[in-house]
Amino acid sequence: MAFQKVCSKDDVWEGEMKAFTVDGTDIVVVHAPGGELRAIQSICPHQEVELADGTLEGAVLTCRMHLWQFDVLTGKGVNPDHAELALYPIKIEGDDIYVDVVGIEPKFSHA
Ligand code: FES
Repeated sequence: MAFQKVCSKDDVWEGEMKAFTVDGTDIVVVHAPGGELRAIQSICPHQEVELADGTLEGAVLTCRMHLWQFDVLTGKGVNPDHAELALYPIKIEGDDIYVDVVGIEPKFSHA
């Protein structure tokens, strides 16, 4: 484990998501409604489109390009359900958000 400080909780308000780079890996920190925080891969598994440019409704992230949808709490595809996002370990210390990207690669599903 190699947790790196990414940002503070004030940088990503509830209902928002924001892109960061950690140890050379692009990620998106998602603050889902209800307060759950997740760190996900930055690009859509379908094609190389930034997921942070999509929309977040509840825990469902919709990619802006072809509207694939993902549950950010689990990383599982909602539509299509065979797609999946990589989730990175995340921890909160005080107001700071730490993420560990070591050994985790983005997932792809081009079908
Ligand atoms: Fe995201 Fe196609 S690039 S749905």
